[in-house]
Parts: sequence; structure tokens; C-alpha cells
Amino acid sequence: MMATATTVAKLAQHVGQTVTLSGWLYNSRSTGKLVFLILRDGTGLCQCVIEKTDANAEIFQTAKRLGQESSFIVDGQVRADERAVGGHELLVNNLRVAQNVEGYPISPKAHGIDFLMKRRHLWFRSQRQWAIMRIRATLIKAIRDYFDSRDFILIDTPIFAPSVGEGAQTLFEVDYFGDPVYLAQTGQLYVESAMMAHRKVYCFGPTFRAEKSKTRRHLTEFWMIEPEIAYADLDDVLELAEDMMVEIVQTVLRERRPELELLGRDLSKLECITKPFYRITYSEAADLLHSDRVRKQFEDDLAAATSRVGELKTEIDGKESERTASGTKKWKAEKLAQEILEARDELADQEELVRNLPQHMELAAGFEWGSDLGGSDETVITRLYDKPVFVTHYPRQTKAFYMKANAADPRTVNALDLLAPEGYGEIIGGSQREDDLDALLKRMDEDGLEREPYEWYLDLRRYGTVPHGGFGLGLERTVSWICGLKHIRETIPFARMMGRIYP
Ligand code: 4AD
Ligand code: MG
Repeated sequence: MMATATTVAKLAQHVGQTVTLSGWLYNSRSTGKLVFLILRDGTGLCQCVIEKTDANAEIFQTAKRLGQESSFIVDGQVRADERAVGGHELLVNNLRVAQNVEGYPISPKAHGIDFLMKRRHLWFRSQRQWAIMRIRATLIKAIRDYFDSRDFILIDTPIFAPSVGEGAQTLFEVDYFGDPVYLAQTGQLYVESAMMAHRKVYCFGPTFRAEKSKTRRHLTEFWMIEPEIAYADLDDVLELAEDMMVEIVQTVLRERRPELELLGRDLSKLECITKPFYRITYSEAADLLHSDRVRKQFEDDLAAATSRVGELKTEIDGKESERTASGTKKWKAEKLAQEILEARDELADQEELVRNLPQHMELAAGFEWGSDLGGSDETVITRLYDKPVFVTHYPRQTKAFYMKANAADPRTVNALDLLAPEGYGEIIGGSQREDDLDALLKRMDEDGLEREPYEWYLDLRRYGTVPHGGFGLGLERTVSWICGLKHIRETIPFARMMGRIYP
């Protein structure tokens, strides 16, 4: 009988039938009579069982010698089995090898991050990385769907930019037929122009910042979604950001639950992302940083991290002596080695926390009104809240030239940042825009910006200017938060950071 070709994700439709699966070898083990091949086909994992029978003698030997990441095709009968990975098992009666692989560089045993990043083209295949990319793809679709279904028009903005968009310190200069131009830091100025034509618009594209700092939040190339709306003030922008955020988190929770679980994400932290988010002004945030509430939180965090360091050290010592004990079986030793590596990873994080917390505490206590909120300040603030927090009305000197002055307190601008909880910090930056020509010109002079490259932008204030605003959502920071990752480098297919451009 001809077997039907299918994929692991669709096995539930084929229980009891004979099907063909094609993919790669994720992992394998064998006993005297059975070989278990964990097949990875891009849609999921399936355990393929090959019994040593007379009919199977040849494929049994082939299967036994198959190396990790070999490509192969199997026919077999589908059996439902709750204990099996993915919930199904394939009883194999035919096996064809496309390529037998020896010496795949990334073993199921653990590797350091630098080793993995240099092999990103292969690391991609591992389960965690697979889950993250699927969540990223769903998030992108959810964001597009959100705007498309609300009459926003998608406008693609240029990547070669003739002038500063966000800040002069992080520009990548490119030679454009002998003239210097820059890689776009933002599409905002262009969507402002399109907004005047379409009322509600958004752009979604790669943006570039020459970030010289190596942090867990910064890439030099990242993707940003920037909606812009006409006849809108700061509150309208805030409501849009909140509404969008709730919807996209709910969509990911609904459509990518297994992937989030695979990552070990605490889903309750996402399930509580509902309206309204918290709203505080920059001045309130500054007061918070000096508050007893923050000091108390620090002390609790430091105590927790210190005691966790102790626990982990004991755990690692225990597992290490069990691993090296003479009677320990090979598979058990390998499992222990993996667990030890994971525990070491967490230990390094906790030790870093113990080192950094006092410094964060000092920075918070010494925070002065007028300076920008730094990464550590954001971390401190978000640890006080279980939901995203809007911080509004930043001092004008901390923000870009295009933000509208706050009529109630001209020291500040009608700006908003959205800080994601659990220490993640800023994922959205936005504002109401300065729609008054004279006020904008004055601010540009103060910032030392030449007028000429911005004449087109100033035209928007000369011909039918209206109150308007928008925001930029950093895709990778959002993926990082939703997935509960420690570092932004795993949220984008091929990360670009200072000192990292390969592969
Ligand atoms: O706050 P930013 O700089 O805002 C703008 O670019 C505005 N023009 C957006 C607008 O109003 N249309 O950047 C917006 C977001 C940040 O909140 C952050 O999520 C992300 O972009 N972002 C980065 N993500 C990764 N790596 C970097 N180096 C980033 N810089 C900003
Ligand atoms: Mg910002």
C-alpha cells in the first residue's frame, strides 16, 4: 500500500495509518532490539521506532549508524502515545537516507553562547531556536493584522536616509555616490508625510543604530513597527499602543502556546496583560527611584539572589559527584552534564545580579531629574509592576527634536515610553509630534540641526498641519519579553551587534 506523505504536525489525522515522514535526525538511542530515531521535520518532533525483525534487519542496521542531523525519509504506522514527544510514534517499516551525517558540530550536549552564535546557521535547528522563530513570525502577523484590520495603510519607508532621524550618535554612514547618507534609524518622518495623505498609516521595516554598547537590549539592525495617526494627541497614541499590545500578546498566547511552554515561559505573566496598563509621568518615575519601595525591592531581590547562588552551588556539586561516580551509566552522566550546564548558566546570571544590584541601587538613589532613564532604572521600575508601564512627559533634552512641547510644563515633551514588566524595560517609544512650524524650527535650532535637509519635513507643518502622533515598537525587544529570553540576540534570525556580523 502506498503511504501518504504528511508532516509531524498532522499526525493526529493519521492514527493507525501508514504514512511517510521526511526530515532530519534530531537525536537517537538504541537498545539491542530497538532503535529510536527522533525525527525533526520543521513542524515538530516524532519518535520513529525501528524493531529488529527479520524484515527490518537492513534498515535496523542503517538506523543504528545514522548520525545527528542526517536527512532521511521513513514509512511507518502512526500510533498515538501520550508519553512520546509530540504525542505520537511511528512504527517504521521503511527507511531511506538522503544524507548520512557524521560529526554535526552542535551536539545535544550544551555549548557556550559564542560557539552557538558562530554556528547560528545550524543552531537554528535546535528546539528553542525553532520555537522562538515561530513566535516571532506569529507576532509579526499579529501586528500586521492589527493595523490592516483597522484601516491603517502600510507605507514602506526608505533605508537610505539623507538626515538624522533619531540621534546623531548612532548613525551608520554609507557612501552614496560620493555623498554621505545614513542607514535609516526610523521611518517616522516619512510616515508623518504619508499620514497626511492616508490619515492612519504604519511602516514595518529594518532600522539601524550604531550602538556601541553590548547590552542584552541592543542590536545594530532591528525591526520596528511605526504607526502614525492624524488628529491625535498623546492620549490617543497611548491608547493605540495599549490596545495593540494587548491584542498581539493574546494572539501569541492563543496560537503559540506549545512553543511558549517549550521555552519554559511563565504563561501567567502574559495572561495578565490586559487593559489598562499603568501610567506614570517621568517625574513620578524619578520620585519612585528614590523611594523606600524601591529600596525594599532591592533588598528583597539581593537576598533572593544571594540565597539562590548558595542553592545552585550545592546542586552543582551534588550533580558533579554523581556524574563522575564510577557506577553512573553513560546516558545518566550525559543528562547530568546537561543539567549542570544549565545550573551553571543560572548561577552565572544570579552572581551577576548579586554584583549588579548594589550598583543599580546606587544609580537609582543618585538619579537626577533631567537625565534619561537608563536600562537599570527601567529594570528597577518595571520590577514594581505586573503589567506594562507607560512613562510619559520626559524632559525635552532627553528626547528627539520632533516631540511636541508639553503646554502644562514646557520643560517636558508629550512623549511616551512603554516599559515591559519583569525587568525588560522599553519596548515602545513614541510621542505627539510638534505640529507648529515656529516651535519646531526653534527646537531644531537649539539642537543644532540644519534646516535644509528637513525642508520637506517642515512643509508638513506649512500645508495643513494637524495634531498627530505615533510610536515605534521594537520587534526584537517584544519577542524577547514575550518569550522570556535573557538576551535579544536570539530573537532575530541573524543578529547584528557590535563585534558580531557572522554568519
Ligand atoms: O525610542 P525609539 O528610538 O523611537 C523611535 O525611533 C521613534 N522614531 C519611533 C516613533 O515614534 N515612530 O525606538 C523605538 C523602539 C524602542 O522602544 C525599542 O523597542 C526599539 O525601537 N529599539 C531597539 N531595539 C533593538 N536594538 C536597538 N538598538 C534599539 N533601539 C531602539
Ligand atoms: Mg526610545
